[in-house]
Amino acid sequence: MRFNGKTAVITGGSSGIGRGTVDLFLREGAKVVMGDIDTDEGSAMMASLGDDFHFQKCDVTQEDDVKALMDTAAEKTGGIDIVFNNAGAGGPRDSIDEISGDDWDFAMALLVKSVAMGIRHSAPYLKQRGGGSIINTASVCSFQAGFGPVAYSTAKAAVLHLSKVAAADLAQHKIRVNAICPGFIQTNIFAATVGANREETNQINAVLGQAAASAQPVARPGIPDDIAQAVAYFASDASGFVTGTHLLVDGGLLVGNRGSWDPEEPGILDAILPDHLK
Ligand SMILES: NC(=O)c1ccc[n+]([C@@H]2O[C@H](COP(=O)([O-])OP(=O)(O)OC[C@H]3O[C@@H](n4cnc5c(N)ncnc54)[C@H](O)[C@@H]3O)[C@@H](O)[C@H]2O)c1
Repeated sequence: MRFNGKTAVITGGSSGIGRGTVDLFLREGAKVVMGDIDTDEGSAMMASLGDDFHFQKCDVTQEDDVKALMDTAAEKTGGIDIVFNNAGAGGPRDSIDEISGDDWDFAMALLVKSVAMGIRHSAPYLKQRGGGSIINTASVCSFQAGFGPVAYSTAKAAVLHLSKVAAADLAQHKIRVNAICPGFIQTNIFAATVGANREETNQINAVLGQAAASAQPVARPGIPDDIAQAVAYFASDASGFVTGTHLLVDGGLLVGNRGSWDPEEPGILDAILPDHLK
């Protein structure tokens, strides 16, 4: 019960990583206020998760919605201690030589401005509590090309840097800011990005699970609870001396090319050297 007496605001909690984090934080004693555009799922969660959970419709691209979410959380529970700026989607898939300015702006509003405004409008409440912890969802895409669209990857790199700069700004108020960088996690984000229906979504998730397990050293797909556990570490007192940094939770996806970790795969030297020089 690491979060007894604490209030956590979580965005994008109707599905995937956010949903896994809502569940863990409730199990650990927090009051959770969750904002999402998926009102059907949010309302269903309100009906089933009990009095410590509150859902409010919130489109994180809209600053007024983000502010209203923070105001409601403080009003309903007496204050805010933890904020998980997590809502997101794959956004426009166009390459850099084709993307429109409007699509670019939308990706930045959804993935970067949303986080900045989440920090901006929760900070006054965290200050009132004498400090707190903010966790932002970045990605393996923050570091490398090839895992997501160009606008998404650029935005996730910005989330990483925003987390560092905000940590420096807010340290004087005992507010810590860190980023979490998931690898391939089995959620609906990939299917949602291409507009798949329910059946296609299940198929995509099954294939993704297998593909992720064979693409990384830890040979299983990531699940939302893998990320929730890392968020809980940043949110808890165990990380009291940790700010302005990030945690990769990717099953080792970024550890190196396949030859560096798979005994079945020839390393670069194995591949290029003639047999008598190996
Ligand atoms: N799944 C992965 O492999 C992965 C990897 C790296 C980073 N991420 C990031 O993790 C976060 C959560 O994604 P997920 O994988 O759980 O996906 P998901 O699709 O399961 O959940 C995303 C949630 O965000 C909500 N959302 C989307 N747009 C919104 C908006 N404008 N306002 C409010 N809510 C909105 C959706 O309704 C949904 O509930 C995202 O920021 C995503 O970019 C995911």
